[in-house]
Amino acid sequence: MSEAAFRQALGEFATGVAVVTARGKDGDDVGMTMSSFNSVSLDPPLVLFSVSRSARSLPAMLEAGGYAVNVLARDQEGIAQRFARTLGDKWERVRTSLGHAEAPLIAGALAHFECEPYAHHDGGDHVIFVARVLRHSVHPGPKEPLLFFRRRYRGLDEARDEDAPDNPSPIL
Ligand SMILES: Cc1cc2nc3c(=O)[nH]c(=O)nc-3n(C[C@H](O)[C@H](O)[C@H](O)COP(=O)(O)O)c2cc1C
Repeated sequence: MSEAAFRQALGEFATGVAVVTARGKDGDDVGMTMSSFNSVSLDPPLVLFSVSRSARSLPAMLEAGGYAVNVLARDQEGIAQRFARTLGDKWERVRTSLGHAEAPLIAGALAHFECEPYAHHDGGDHVIFVARVLRHSVHPGPKEPLLFFRRRYRGLDEARDEDAPDNPSPIL
């Protein structure tokens, strides 16, 4: 199986975009743009996300006492780009407050989920984090969600035909 084709097929699944943050044991904050965030269970309230084994943030995430999931709004594409990079200061000019276990909550997010660790599972080249939600908040208003589809950030109504795969598989 070609990895490029696999990635392209996965890109057909439109997702929201979150930044998952945590404060490591050394006091340093980590944050990563994530499209793998998803709901798992209502009772107990569980969510999941998967972290690449090559992410520099992984050791801090594994030892953190909690995480914050920040669901990004359409006007936070710059934050998504910044937290998708391995190098540089991700936190410069990002307004935050502290959530459970001092995980940073990013101002302007559509929703926040403050979580504690529940389980870690092997996920091949990723580690699957299952987290128990302790608190959540939503910030409704006119804001749209930030979406990721066919390797691009978009808003609702921003799927264009020119982004169709080069070699679409025949529909059987
Ligand atoms: C839209 C988008 C979604 C992403 N989703 C994930 C994800 O679910 N899991 C992951 O490990 N990396 C994901 N990444 C890549 C990470 O954000 C990136 O590798 C990370 O910020 C690296 O941080 P670090 O090496 O400083 O820890 C995604 C990137 C983008 C642009």
